Amino acid sequence: MIKVGIIGVGTVGTSVANILKDNADVISARAGNKIVVKSGVVKNLSKERGLDIKLTDNIDDILQDETIDIVVELMGGVDEAFEVVKRALAAGKAVVTANKALLAYHRYELQELAGDIPFEFEASVAGGIPIITALRDGLSANHIESIMGIMNGTCNYMMSKMTDEGVAYDAILKESQELGYAEADPTFDVGGYDAAHKLLILASIAYGINAKPEDILIEGIENVTQEDIAFAKEFGYAIKLLGIAKKDANEVELRVHACLIKKEEMIAKIDGVMNGISVVGDKVGETLYYGPGAGGDATASAVVANIIDIARSGKSTPMLGFNKPMEGNQLTLKSNDDIESKYYLRINVNDRAGVLANLAKIFENHHISIETMLQRPSEKESANLLISTHCAREKNLKNMINEIESLNFVNGRPAMIRII
Ligand code: HSE
Repeated sequence: MIKVGIIGVGTVGTSVANILKDNADVISARAGNKIVVKSGVVKNLSKERGLDIKLTDNIDDILQDETIDIVVELMGGVDEAFEVVKRALAAGKAVVTANKALLAYHRYELQELAGDIPFEFEASVAGGIPIITALRDGLSANHIESIMGIMNGTCNYMMSKMTDEGVAYDAILKESQELGYAEADPTFDVGGYDAAHKLLILASIAYGINAKPEDILIEGIENVTQEDIAFAKEFGYAIKLLGIAKKDANEVELRVHACLIKKEEMIAKIDGVMNGISVVGDKVGETLYYGPGAGGDATASAVVANIIDIARSGKSTPMLGFNKPMEGNQLTLKSNDDIESKYYLRINVNDRAGVLANLAKIFENHHISIETMLQRPSEKESANLLISTHCAREKNLKNMINEIESLNFVNGRPAMIRII
């Protein structure tokens, strides 16, 4: 019998315990062994959780229990979780975690510490979608050319509702919190950090890139307005928060931001809380993974799959998929300034003669070519210029935005969304 201890019995932890019980028949047949939850750690012992497992508020009841084989870390956060996981590994216990923030900062140290002890984290990226198994095992014969996807269910749910039903940003954020999709601090979702944590995990498995969140371009959906959505609709785009990893010679660009993406693209059709990730390998071509990226049962499905895997084999694969660095072909992180993209800009200007001519000159000075332009009247004799550009360099675009913001006929900072 394999004994499991769950640290953090919230929405996902409760689902893990329930799935192990509800599906015990198929789980023990697949694992070749019975798997039971021996105990769970919670902060508040008086809260009713409807579970028949032993609950404690003392982490040592799990970490010092020699009969527990697998520790499931679902407490979230970085520093405390890191200490707990280190202690579990030091005690020789296998670890399963869904903690993407922990991995975004400490995945290489954890790989080192785990050594031959199984350490699995399928639920950390895209909830119920087995994207880590796909990338680490199913596609291991390929050089990965790109990864692009919807990796945050909350943002996708919000963008879908804002687009399809015109629901206001704050109302829909509150709804996603109530539905249990959002992080404890939802700025992690809407600011793009949650998706960035996931992208960094995938980038390690695909490219061996050891970057931290601070090293990469991260923007959220906080500034997307109904006007941007209307422009997107008019020009045949959807707006999505995407995580993008792209290989270019010996460099890899990593970025998370809102994107205008053509409606015909498969990723653009993924709505609601669902996640979808496209992975292009040099031999396989494009593969696409779709499924629920958040929610208790979906996330717990991936956690339990890791538990079964460990129970089945007891063996560990290299946690991040590489046994040793690639010879002579090390990939490095591309500077954010060198990223190239098409851009959409929303610039609020005073509606008077000469404004457009002045702006056009500034675009030219920064080597940025305009593709389309719309002018919409705004309040108090001002107008919104909605402009899309041809491909440009990020550094030039940022410099141009800074210059435009300082002009006396421009109101506020221009808003920008990259176009895929
Ligand atoms: N807050 C995350 C999301 C949960 O919305 O996708 C899953 O990681």
